[in-house]
Amino acid sequence: MSTTIETTVVPEPQVDLGIADDGFFEVEVAEIRPEADGVLSLHLAHPAGKPLPDWAPGSHIDVLLPNGLLRQYSLCSEAGAGRWRLGVLREAAGRGGSAYVHDDLRPGARIKVREPRNNFTLKPAPEYLFLAGGIGITPILPMLAAAQESGIPWRLVYMGRSRSSMAFLSELERFGDKVQVHADDEAGLFPLKDLLQAPDAGFHTYVCGPGPLLDFISSLTSAWDDQKRFHFERFVADPAATAPAAGDHEFTVETTEGIEVQVPVGTSILDALAGAGVPVLNSCREGICGTCETTVVSGEIDHRDSLLSEEEREAGETMMICVSRCKGLRMILDL
Ligand code: FES
Repeated sequence: MSTTIETTVVPEPQVDLGIADDGFFEVEVAEIRPEADGVLSLHLAHPAGKPLPDWAPGSHIDVLLPNGLLRQYSLCSEAGAGRWRLGVLREAAGRGGSAYVHDDLRPGARIKVREPRNNFTLKPAPEYLFLAGGIGITPILPMLAAAQESGIPWRLVYMGRSRSSMAFLSELERFGDKVQVHADDEAGLFPLKDLLQAPDAGFHTYVCGPGPLLDFISSLTSAWDDQKRFHFERFVADPAATAPAAGDHEFTVETTEGIEVQVPVGTSILDALAGAGVPVLNSCREGICGTCETTVVSGEIDHRDSLLSEEEREAGETMMICVSRCKGLRMILDL
């Protein structure tokens, strides 16, 4: 049985996709399919028929919709097909991105996207436990295929309000009893506490779903001896990330080019730098996409993103400058 898994390297594109300076290029909506109540899949292809770049499980892309909204969606088809597939949930409380996709986007439309980025990498492990809530199945789906192919033991618990709201169920049938589908309207809430109170030694858990589910699972796993075994991806920012916190203070950021800016309370490093003529590529501005990740040369980081692992936070090598701040009075960034 092989225990090798290749997940981290996203190869450079082999073809000229017409990528602009801001990283965007155009793709065509080749197909739109209903996948469940309130969930569509978008199938994207290059307008000239060129193969879209390969990607690894856990990757997402920035999508610039024709109505000007910028959104991040996980890639949820198996890698290497030359096309991409996204799953989009209609979010009643959303800001218009998912409503536009559901109501206005049609096959043949052109949208702008950036190349895949991966903040939710499937790392080698002796065993995997995947937990998906609702649309959180999208980044997990290609992970299952990768785990299956590698021969590493795994299981999935896929939770949702009802089966009719849960996308891609038919694609999971091939995995047999490795997949447990749990619909709340049939059996109440899934007993996560029982599942996670005595974790098997060595297994790694990958979780994606709504914020409250992630918060609950995070509280159940906070006592695990090894936090590196717990991996999660948020679709929605932690509200604490973007709100000013008690104790926030003004500090100075210096770039390696020698530009110095003051970052007042209530202003992000990203905005302070932009105001000083140092624009940094960004997307979500909420600490969930990783686009603004910046290398830190010196200074103590006050991490407020929803991306970096505990290990990465401790290493202190990079930060998301759209939300994270400086604990001290000065820091130097590699810009
Ligand atoms: S812009 Fe998305 S993490 Fe900063």
